[in-house]
Amino acid sequence: EQIKKGNYEHFMQKEIHEQPESLTTTMRGRLICGGSSKAKSVLLGGLKDHLKTIRRSRRIVFIGCGTSYNAALAARPFLEELSGVPVTMEIASDLLDRQGPIYREDTTVFVSQSGETADTLLALQYALENGALCVGITNTVGSAIARNTHCGVHINAGCEIGVASTKAYTSQIVVMTMLALAVGADTISSQARRVAVIDGLFDLPNKVREVLKLNEELKDLAKLLVQEESLLMFGRGYNYATALEGALKVKEVALMHSEGILAGEMKHGPLALVDETLPIIVIATHDSCFSKQQSVIQQLHARKGRLIVMCTKGDAPLVCPSGSCRVIEVPHVEDCLQPVVNIIPLQLLAYHLTVLRGYNVDQPRNLAKSVTTQ
Ligand code: G6P
Repeated sequence: EQIKKGNYEHFMQKEIHEQPESLTTTMRGRLICGGSSKAKSVLLGGLKDHLKTIRRSRRIVFIGCGTSYNAALAARPFLEELSGVPVTMEIASDLLDRQGPIYREDTTVFVSQSGETADTLLALQYALENGALCVGITNTVGSAIARNTHCGVHINAGCEIGVASTKAYTSQIVVMTMLALAVGADTISSQARRVAVIDGLFDLPNKVREVLKLNEELKDLAKLLVQEESLLMFGRGYNYATALEGALKVKEVALMHSEGILAGEMKHGPLALVDETLPIIVIATHDSCFSKQQSVIQQLHARKGRLIVMCTKGDAPLVCPSGSCRVIEVPHVEDCLQPVVNIIPLQLLAYHLTVLRGYNVDQPRNLAKSVTTQ
């Protein structure tokens, strides 16, 4: 086992640090870069015969559990933007509990690292019975979800051993971003945007390498937070998913209560929790929600909130003019790719908190890597 971990102490640590490579593998052979910008495109072999059907569907429905659900949530805005098709989200167990409507004209997309999660698999059977087109996005060739869907994409992130999913999450977001590029019509109006995102994908492993250099900084932050009972994370837009996923990491491995909060909902409850003691991470990287997040920060400040702000490199004076909050500066990438970069400091924070608190990093109590029973 130690050999497999290489120079790392834990699989989770190894899997966090190998993300530049796992993302490269995920994209290998799938980004086509001809001479002119027009020739830049995405090729997903497993989907090519179904793209027309997906484009014409009434809805695209993402279905998954845990981290896989969060990855789909992160990819949703860009898929909606490029496809123009409404994209709805379903937690697999909740869809089953409600027996929610699924139509023949729907494209259902099943996202699962293992490809074996019981609820996701049952939701797949349900969608098949209802006649929807079923697409699988998994990390496991030959898994039940890969076998039973009509078509799909393997994320090729490599074997993930830590129970808390890290590298699979970022590869899933990249696959769903490529899915959006493949499904979205190649209209003149969207061309510049498409090229910018494809260029951003090419450069993403470098940006991830850069953000991983924050490791020591996050270790220091973990030392500061190690005794806390609770940690909130505020995000919105592309990074609402980052807040949910960051909080999930902290809760599942560091066994610390943590909650991801949609910043737009702040005044509808969460604001009541804010005081001088409760630490709050606010994700405020540069995108179309930035000025709204700046105002959230001001309002949290006014209530003496204990803030840690994640912002784009160079933006510290804009998010924290008084210099009184702690800042995590991350490299800037295209807005739809920013969740890939932004989750990494939170993965590192969860990892270091777990080590400092003395808990089992790779096998958190009561949890399993693959939940094959309901
Ligand atoms: C379990 C794992 C999580 C994972 C979830 C969904 O809860 O501990 O890391 O996100 O299952 O698993 P899947 O294999 O379907 O992505």
